[in-house]
Amino acid sequence: MQQAKAAVLRQVNAPMTIETIDVGPVAAGDVLVRMRAASLCHTDLEAMEGAIAINLPAVLGHEAAGEVVETGAGVTDLAVGDRVVLSWNPHCGSCFYCERAQPILCRQFLAHGPKGFHFDGKPRLACDAVPMHQLMYLGGFAEYAIVPSQAAIRVPDAMPFDRAALIGCGVMTGVGAATRIASLRWGDVALVIGCGAVGLSAIQGCVLAGAERIIAVDPNPARRQLARAIGATHACDPAEAADLAKSLTDNRGADVIIEAAGRPETFRLSAEAVRPGGQIVWLGKVAVNEEVAFRWGSLMQEKRIVRSSYGGARPAQDFPMLARAYLEGRLKLDEMISARIRLEDVNEGFAALKRGETVRSVVMFP
Ligand SMILES: NC(=O)c1ccc[n+]([C@@H]2O[C@H](COP(=O)([O-])OP(=O)(O)OC[C@H]3O[C@@H](n4cnc5c(N)ncnc54)[C@H](O)[C@@H]3O)[C@@H](O)[C@H]2O)c1
Ligand SMILES: [Zn+2]
Ligand SMILES: [Zn+2]
Repeated sequence: MQQAKAAVLRQVNAPMTIETIDVGPVAAGDVLVRMRAASLCHTDLEAMEGAIAINLPAVLGHEAAGEVVETGAGVTDLAVGDRVVLSWNPHCGSCFYCERAQPILCRQFLAHGPKGFHFDGKPRLACDAVPMHQLMYLGGFAEYAIVPSQAAIRVPDAMPFDRAALIGCGVMTGVGAATRIASLRWGDVALVIGCGAVGLSAIQGCVLAGAERIIAVDPNPARRQLARAIGATHACDPAEAADLAKSLTDNRGADVIIEAAGRPETFRLSAEAVRPGGQIVWLGKVAVNEEVAFRWGSLMQEKRIVRSSYGGARPAQDFPMLARAYLEGRLKLDEMISARIRLEDVNEGFAALKRGETVRSVVMFP
């Protein structure tokens, strides 16, 4: 059993509290990870506000990196001292969806995620002997976490922990949307709506996939500037986006649109600005019961729309590849870290994310 300082969410719409929790014991197939960095993603904020459901009390944090300090029975592919990025998509490997290479729809994954426990239904965390839940099988806002071994992906030792953490959600989702879901082609005109960590990563995925023109769309001028710095060839306010896409494509519209803002108007914009036969990838989300209306004509003409979780991630392959891309200068991550903070400052970090002041704040563990 390991004691750990953790940020605990006890009720929605209330700050997380810093508490000491018990982590363990490590079961067969688990690994104990000493957390070194955990960044603040919009999805944690949605859990704090009750827009996505998870049993409470829970430890949030699902964009994290650390080092393996203990391995459970049967874990053969990880060793103590390995540097790992956490993946939030453990999957059984043998259900209907896993068999069809769609691990994000794994029955076990979907069934146990909202409960906040591992696939065996048993807690790994407790506070005063009361079981605690882990957001997305992880719980990165704690000094230690026990995760399924397949959720800990080894990356090179040269990869700095804070930048490694970003790979685990926002970067994977954005890059994957361009490379794995949209299957962008060399020469395409891409338009990315929303330039937070997910959208900025989508822009970089478009660069890696060979898009010729990449339009970054965000109402925030600072975000547009950042988008240009990391690879967008054009940037504009949402009001100008559809016209700009047409002006670059002989009036057709963008070949690929990646939506990463999560608003009704940005879903609508994606349908208006894509060309006939083009592809739309929605990454953002509104509350699950919220309705989003579309002009019917904007949906016609063979447009293909996919709403993707995790950008088609295959973490075991993709995380090391993304880490290498960073280390070799092909993926920019330094620019996405707005602040490095202490665990005690996590609530203020989320307030800053909500105000749009930070792309990513990263909790650094000593
Ligand atoms: N699909 C997934 O697996 C996945 C993973 C992580 C996050 N997300 C979702 O992706 C979205 C983005 O996440 P993030 O962490 O980058 O969030 P963020 O809040 O950091 O970024 C959102 C960006 O959208 C911009 N924006 C606001 N209104 C806009 C508009 N009308 N048009 C264009 N841009 C607008 C904001 O200025 C901001 O730069 C969220 O909805 C989040 O829930 C999805
Ligand atoms: Zn499965
Ligand atoms: Zn996330």
